Amino acid sequence: MESKSKEMAEQGKRKMEWAGQSMGVLRAIQERFLEEKPLEGVRISACLHVTAETGVLMQTMQKGGADICLCASNPLSTQDDVAASLAVHDGMKVFAIHGVDRDGYYKHIRKALAHRPHITMDDGADLVQLLHTEYREQLDEIKGGTEETTTGVIRLRSMARESVLGYPVIAVNDAKTKYLFDNRYGTGQSTMDGIMRATNRLMSGAVFVVCGYGWCGRGVAMRAAGMGARVVVVEVDPFRALEAVMDGYQVMPMMEAAGVGDFFCTVTGNQHVIRGEHFACMKDGAIVSNAGHFNVEINLGELEEMATARRMMRESLEEFVLEDGRKLYLLGQGRLVNLAAAEGHPANVMDMSFANQALSVEHLLHHAQTMESKVYAVPDAIDAHVAAMKLQTMGVVYDTLSTQQQVYLNAWIMGT
Ligand code: ADE
Repeated sequence: MESKSKEMAEQGKRKMEWAGQSMGVLRAIQERFLEEKPLEGVRISACLHVTAETGVLMQTMQKGGADICLCASNPLSTQDDVAASLAVHDGMKVFAIHGVDRDGYYKHIRKALAHRPHITMDDGADLVQLLHTEYREQLDEIKGGTEETTTGVIRLRSMARESVLGYPVIAVNDAKTKYLFDNRYGTGQSTMDGIMRATNRLMSGAVFVVCGYGWCGRGVAMRAAGMGARVVVVEVDPFRALEAVMDGYQVMPMMEAAGVGDFFCTVTGNQHVIRGEHFACMKDGAIVSNAGHFNVEINLGELEEMATARRMMRESLEEFVLEDGRKLYLLGQGRLVNLAAAEGHPANVMDMSFANQALSVEHLLHHAQTMESKVYAVPDAIDAHVAAMKLQTMGVVYDTLSTQQQVYLNAWIMGT
C-alpha cells in the first residue's frame, strides 16, 4: 500500500514536470519568485481544479515564499496523483480526493479556510462564498483574492453589488490573455477530448448542439465543426446568436435543437438549459454533456425521474432508459466534461491563465492597502506582459509601429 502511494506521488511529479514544459511564462515567473521571494510569509488558500497545471502554479507560489493550502474546486477534476505529489514532494497541505461526495467536498474547503489565509485563490467562488457566510470573522485577515472563472466572477460581482464582498478580488478570468485563449481554445479542445474519451464516437457527420455562445461556446463550436460535425448553436443573446449565424452555424431554440442533436454540450453558466421537455423529444442515443462550471445546466433531477433504468456503460458514460424505450447518455454526471472525463485544458493555455494568477497575487500584496472591497480587472500591464512573454516563449516575434505611424495615430488633423 505504501509503495503504491509512493508510486502515485512519483507519477504526479512526472505529470507536473511534463505540464511545466509547456508553461514557459509561469516557469519564468517561478525563477523570479525563487530569487525575490515576494510571497514570503503569505498564507494562501487555493480552491482550484487539482490538476498537473494547478500543481505547477502552486509550486510557483511556494517558490515565492507562500505557505500553501490547496483544496479542489470540483470533486471530479482532482488528479489524485498530483495531489499526492504536492503533499509528499512539496510538503503542501492538500485536501482533494477524486470523486469525493458533497460533504467531503465542503469539508475540504473548510480545511483550506482553517489555514487562515491572507490570500484566497478561487475557481467558481465556492471558497469565497463559504468564507463570507460561515467564516466572516476571518475576513479582516484577508488582503485579497483572485478568481479564475466566468461563473465565479459573476458571483463576486453580485456580492459586490450587494456590498457584501469583504476584500478586493482580481477577476483573472477577464484578462484578455485568459478568456481569449483558455476559455476559447482551452475549453474547445478539452471539451472535445472529454466527449471523445467518454464515448469514442465519431464527430464527423454528427449534429453537435452547443448551448451558449460565449467564449467557451465559441471554442467548442469551432472545434466540433473542425472535426466535421454540423454545429447548431442555441443562444438567448441576439448579438451572440447573430455572431453564431455569421460564423456559419445554424441557430435555433433549444426546443427545436433537442430533436435534431446527436451530441449536446451546455456552456451557458445558467441552470436547467436542457430539461425534461427537451429529453422528451431527443433522438434515441443522444449524448448530453456540460462544460459550464456547475452541474446545474442539465436538469439531472428531471432526467433521473424520467428514467426507468440506468447503468454505467463506460467510465464517465451513463445510460438512462426512458419509458418509451429511448436511451439517453449523460457524460461525467453532468459536471465539467473536460475535467471529469479528460484532464482539463492543455498546459499551454493554462500557462497564461496561471501567469495572470501569480502576478495578480503579487499585485494584491503590493496594492491591497489602497484597494477597495470590489472586483478588479487584472492590470493591463500584467495582461500585456503575459501576452508578450507567451509570444517570446513560443519564439514568435511581433511587429512594432514606426515613429511616423505613431505620430499618424495621434494626429487628428491629417486626412487623405
Ligand atoms: N480549468 C480548465 N482546465 C484546467 C486545468 N488543466 N487545470 C486547472 N484548471 C483548469
